Amino acid sequence: MQQSALEMRNQTLIDRGNVHVATTYGRTPIALVRGEGMRVWDADGKMYYDFLAGLGVNNLGHCHPKVVEAIRQQAGTLLHVSNLYHIQPQIELADMLAALSFADRSFFCNSGTESCEAAIKLARKYSHDHFGAGRYEVITFENSFHGRTMGSLSATAQYKYHKGFEPLLDGFQYAPFDDLQALERMITPKTCAIMVEPVQGEGGVNVPSPGYLKGLRQLCDARQLLLIYDEVQCGIGRTGTLFAYEHEGVPPDIMTLAKSLAGGVPIGALLAREEVAKSFVPGTHAATFGGNPLATAAGVAALKAIQEDGMLENCQRVGAYFMRRLKDLQQRYAFIKEVRGRGLMLGIQLDFPGGQLVNDCLERGFLVNCTMDTVLRFLPPLVVTESEVDLLVATLDELFAKV
Ligand SMILES: Cc1ncc(COP(=O)(O)O)c(C=O)c1O
Repeated sequence: MQQSALEMRNQTLIDRGNVHVATTYGRTPIALVRGEGMRVWDADGKMYYDFLAGLGVNNLGHCHPKVVEAIRQQAGTLLHVSNLYHIQPQIELADMLAALSFADRSFFCNSGTESCEAAIKLARKYSHDHFGAGRYEVITFENSFHGRTMGSLSATAQYKYHKGFEPLLDGFQYAPFDDLQALERMITPKTCAIMVEPVQGEGGVNVPSPGYLKGLRQLCDARQLLLIYDEVQCGIGRTGTLFAYEHEGVPPDIMTLAKSLAGGVPIGALLAREEVAKSFVPGTHAATFGGNPLATAAGVAALKAIQEDGMLENCQRVGAYFMRRLKDLQQRYAFIKEVRGRGLMLGIQLDFPGGQLVNDCLERGFLVNCTMDTVLRFLPPLVVTESEVDLLVATLDELFAKV
């Protein structure tokens, strides 16, 4: 008889996984089998406080009851139908996104990279429709991350992800982040769009200077370029507002979402204002599973829960507290070069690689992550409390004291 995952132990699952699962990930040697709110459990029954939230997917916490209930109901009603037909929860989610953002229309897909692919295609198509062929280049930024499929990978300005997959796609230029003058010098008659993460995630939790998005908007307007925000990681409440661009009040023409949009169910979305969205006419872009009833019903429930359950307020309050506590640590440890971030998207810049600290945190029951080798990154669910932050900070303090 097959053992259920709950009956198996970590090592059994690790050994089995090592046989047939693809070797694309450097995995931590535990198997997570259950989650609730801020907490997850491994197959040996050990509990962890999840300060990573599935890399920014579980913004509502694990198994949010309203999302679980919506999935249950939808699963028993209609799991999938083709986009050849109208889909009720998809319509509802698009309505909600239009009411909550700058956008008039949403195209749904299944992941962040797909949403960025769609954004690149829409920018090219719009430019082709309005300015003719030959104007197709997208400028992205150093240390950006837009995904792993060939278009998004080519948009990602980090060589370590490109290595071995060259040649990349034509049509991307990389500018320094947070430097409007350098960007302006790179715009050519071939440029059609500028694509930016309002807060860079994988690139090390980098928040641009105040006024940067406004500067990008002005530049795009002056040069008739489209402004694309990639809010796959910083969107859906992560920075304390539903969308990170709201901090500066500067809307884009196109925006990408994914990760936590459906509370843990795979989804991606491309949002655009009407004039731009119109360039996607029937037949120009598609995804079989995109906007599927299950994913969009979860999305509707997740977006409602974020608003009804006061998660944005909690994110702002606990995020500010967390930042203060990390800055206190910075006062005491000279190897902390910077504490940065916004809301509950926070990073500690160390002056040495942080991998060992991630392992030490794991051992003590905390899931955290390190990006760019030296940035400890924290992306907890938006329901995290001050006392849970205190527990992590006390553990970091103890570990830092031993460095
Ligand atoms: C800003 C940003 N864009 C795109 C992606 C790609 O998303 P996915 O892994 O769902 O394809 C990520 C993933 O981390 C991301 O952080």
